[in-house]
Amino acid sequence: MRVKDKVIIVTGSGGGIGEGIAKRLAAEGAKVVVNDIQPVQGQKVTADIVAAGGQAIFVAADVTKSAEVQALVQAAVQQWGRLDVMVNNAGWTHRNRPALEVSEDEFDRCYAVNMKSIYLATVHAVPVFRAGGGGSFINIASTAGVRPRPGLTWYNGSKGAVITTSKSLAAELGPDNIRVNCINPVFNPDTGLSAEFAGGPVDDARRAKFLATIPLGRFSSALDVANAALYLASDEGAFISGVCIEVDGARCV
Ligand SMILES: NC(=O)c1ccc[n+]([C@@H]2O[C@H](COP(=O)([O-])OP(=O)(O)OC[C@H]3O[C@@H](n4cnc5c(N)ncnc54)[C@H](O)[C@@H]3O)[C@@H](O)[C@H]2O)c1
Repeated sequence: MRVKDKVIIVTGSGGGIGEGIAKRLAAEGAKVVVNDIQPVQGQKVTADIVAAGGQAIFVAADVTKSAEVQALVQAAVQQWGRLDVMVNNAGWTHRNRPALEVSEDEFDRCYAVNMKSIYLATVHAVPVFRAGGGGSFINIASTAGVRPRPGLTWYNGSKGAVITTSKSLAAELGPDNIRVNCINPVFNPDTGLSAEFAGGPVDDARRAKFLATIPLGRFSSALDVANAALYLASDEGAFISGVCIEVDGARCV
């Protein structure tokens, strides 16, 4: 039980990578707050965790809305008296297309879900972390934030901002015993965003094109990312802050 009794929020955990993180952390003893804007999916993940013998509650909240993020953090405190880790996983992308064809609304949504969410999580969780003697943020960024490719320009930039902001916060919040780290996953073909990243259905041709750039010869899975999150959330990661763990099979280009 590597995170036994740690209280952990996982945003956007109604499906995809976040679901994998929430389930892995719960299996290792965490008290998990499952969050999503999609209540049916979020409640299903929560029920799965409880059925497997874990501890979880579901809190519907939009990570782009200050009052809702505040309520999300408070729900963790009300339920379990503290907050130890916040995994900022909720994310969104415009469809893979030329930069000039992405609408202003899509740009705003991309930066709100991917980046403003980090600001709001910081504003609302840091006072709780400080009161509890410390804490840890795990921000799910992307390989796209460090090795950008054409077609996802505004998404790539939002993830680059997540990475730089996380490193800055790590430096600023270290004296409060608050750690801030990122995980950079490479393409996962099985999530709600996969077709958007790929620019269409993830068919054999698109799979082959992506796969050719990953030396370890497969895509990332939610479990790969969850295992990295487990390490950062656990006491094994107690002196790790300001880093990005690449979960990318050594993607080279
Ligand atoms: N799938 C990949 O290839 C890949 C690669 C690198 C990084 N990522 C990142 O991983 C994270 C998870 O994405 P995923 O691929 O599992 O996609 P997903 O769409 O399957 O999961 C994202 C979840 O976030 C929720 N969400 C969206 N907006 C929200 C909001 N405003 N408030 C609360 N919840 C919200 C969605 O309802 C969904 O359940 C994202 O940050 C994404 O950028 C994904």
